Amino acid sequence: MNLSSEDREKLIALALKARQQAYAPYSHYAVGAALITRSGRIFSGCNIENAAYPTTICAERVAVFSAVAEGERDIAAIVVATSNGGSPCGSCRQVLAEFGLGTQVICVDAAGQVLLETDLNSLLPGAFTPRDLA
Ligand code: THU
Repeated sequence: MNLSSEDREKLIALALKARQQAYAPYSHYAVGAALITRSGRIFSGCNIENAAYPTTICAERVAVFSAVAEGERDIAAIVVATSNGGSPCGSCRQVLAEFGLGTQVICVDAAGQVLLETDLNSLLPGAFTPRDLA
């Protein structure tokens, strides 16, 4: 599925909005994410840090887990918003790969400018996926 320019703009705006909810008192690196499922539903998330640092969760995983908890597993695209267009960490790549290697990934900066546009296949080549357990 190719993201329409309307959906792309909507996701970028929602990722930027979600970023404003980031709870990042330790790193001060606020991240927002917004995804769209193939059925057209949209979910967003922000990073939520914790005084016990490893307990922190990334914005992408909050968005993915929220979608899955609502019964939506078919993720078409995700937009990630950071100050500098940073790309998803390894753990988030693995979580996204679980639900499809074709997922489109768009990274934007705080102004909503697209700095990277790719897919899971490129971000996590040779991923370990459910197929490996089949
Ligand atoms: N972070 C994300 O939310 N997503 C990523 O893919 C990379 C890192 C968050 C985790 C932590 O709260 C902060 O950014 C700095 O690592």
